[in-house]
Amino acid sequence: LEQEALSKVEEASTIKELQDVRVAYLGKKGPITEVLRGMGKLSPEERPIIGELANTVRANIANAMEEKKDAMERAELEKQLAEEQIDVTLPGRPVAVGGPHLLTSIVEEIEDLFIGLGFEVREGPEVETDYYNFEALNLPKGHPARDMQDSFYITEDLLMRTHTSPVQARTMNAIQGARPVKMICPGKVYRRDTDDATHSHQFTQIEGLYVDKNVRMSDLKGVLDRFAKHMFGEDREIRLRPSFFPFTEPSVEMDISCKVCNGEGCSVCKKTGWIEILGAGMVHPRVLEMAGYDPNEYSGFAFGMGPERIAMLKYGVDDIRHFYTNDVRFLKQYHQA
Ligand code: PHE
Repeated sequence: LEQEALSKVEEASTIKELQDVRVAYLGKKGPITEVLRGMGKLSPEERPIIGELANTVRANIANAMEEKKDAMERAELEKQLAEEQIDVTLPGRPVAVGGPHLLTSIVEEIEDLFIGLGFEVREGPEVETDYYNFEALNLPKGHPARDMQDSFYITEDLLMRTHTSPVQARTMNAIQGARPVKMICPGKVYRRDTDDATHSHQFTQIEGLYVDKNVRMSDLKGVLDRFAKHMFGEDREIRLRPSFFPFTEPSVEMDISCKVCNGEGCSVCKKTGWIEILGAGMVHPRVLEMAGYDPNEYSGFAFGMGPERIAMLKYGVDDIRHFYTNDVRFLKQYHQA
């Protein structure tokens, strides 16, 4: 019996088969249990002998099974280890690393500068009411200057904002003359333009607004001069030319000098040596008034610039569409290490 059981254990090739052998030989209905159960029928002299024998056989079978089970488990583990072996000498697969978009970097650089000058950063909705986009900026319905910015209308009263200037009106309106305002607002704007190298139906602007007692044109000029030098280099100069915006009076356009000098001499970007980069002016008294500020007490300046244009000038990007088509080869050129 012992021999038979041991060879069955030996033959078993799975844990399940081993289990079956255990049930067959050591189980409640197995031969050994049967022998032990029949002990009562034996003579007192036979009992210890048969009993000991039965126990030894049972222990031997159980031991063999234990060993077999251990061996199987070891083999299983080894097989698994072999299968899951990793070749640490294989070269790794490169992980593509992203970085901020050029436009994001420029906007953040400009934000950082103005935060340093005490401006807070605000936001406003891209879907804007006619009131904030135009009327609150001194552009009543039917005003010819509305045509300066061809708009995408959604309903008669809602449109995609054509500039970030409505955030000026919103910010002042929320405060109603209770305190000064010093903010910039970056964001997307939309115009019905045909896309080409210098036009896009959607682009970015950064608005600036500073309203306080005694804000003067010279304050505007000082801030813009700092901005130009920070973005383009300390050797740059600015010049303000008279212009027109309904929400500022007087209004100006700012040019930066684009004379670049090196060891071999100087070269000039345009014939004039100046290039236009933003619109600005002193906040129109009517705009202050509509937003709850007393124009006799408060004055302010505002400006609006296009970060795409600034990035194009700073990095020599020749087509505004590069910012939106997201060709990775273009984007990668501007990732700082
Ligand atoms: N909103 C004007 C534009 O989009 C720019 C501007 C802003 C001009 C603030 C003056 C003051 O052209």
